[in-house]
Amino acid sequence: VDLKDVVREWSGRLTLEQTLLKYLSIKEVIIVPGNVDTNKNAEMLLSQEAAKFLESILHDDKIIAVTGGSTIASISNFVHETTRWKNLMFIAARGGVGKDVSLQANTIASLFSNKMHGSYRTLYMPDSLSEEAYTTMKKEPFIQEMMDLYERTNIIIHGIGDAAEMARRRNSTEAEIDRLKEIGSVSEAFGYYFNDQGEAVHRIRTIGIQLKQLKNIEHLVAVAGGAKKAKALLSYFKQAPKQTVLVTDEGAANEMMKII
Ligand code: G3H
Repeated sequence: VDLKDVVREWSGRLTLEQTLLKYLSIKEVIIVPGNVDTNKNAEMLLSQEAAKFLESILHDDKIIAVTGGSTIASISNFVHETTRWKNLMFIAARGGVGKDVSLQANTIASLFSNKMHGSYRTLYMPDSLSEEAYTTMKKEPFIQEMMDLYERTNIIIHGIGDAAEMARRRNSTEAEIDRLKEIGSVSEAFGYYFNDQGEAVHRIRTIGIQLKQLKNIEHLVAVAGGAKKAKALLSYFKQAPKQTVLVTDEGAANEMMKII
């Protein structure tokens, strides 16, 4: 018997994982102790657990797409430096969001690939594009190459954001934020805003990975914690692909249990 499992059982986290797993009807739920909203240690545990999970599913020649955000950025600190896997390719699942370079999918893809001695591909453009830019960019060969890689992605590691917080990060105007509220946006992932029924009520014009491509990906690893994200998580998981594994914390899990 693994002592860690005993502690997990004793602390009730295992029961919580099983209850949430049934409710969210996905592949697996992993809960770490604490609440990332108020506890730095929980943030570390969340990233560590996600890194461990990623390492458990890696094989040679895999394409791994990563989104941006503080949670996914932090995971790259916890993957082990290794040459164990050959020919891994890390790709940015989306363009740039906000001003902070360290939180961009591009930066995070390069951090992962440095640690695991793989290669990486970036998507150097804003996440949200005008119609003209979108139409023109789509014809560029480097974009065609990225779109082809999205079709062949084996693993995706992604964050889930609170809709209002993500709109702010994108520097959306007050009017846009109000509009998102009006249409009931609760969560955001991959440039899509979802309402509490998990319906995509808005999507930004983006070249990154598209929702319909997710269902063909073998491993989807969603990493998000904190009580503040509970509503966003429930919203996103109303529609999430069944093969998703959620790595979260007690803060988010307990709050979800209060709502459901
Ligand atoms: O798509 C959602 C965001 O990546 C979440 O960002 O990890 O900084 O909260 P965060």
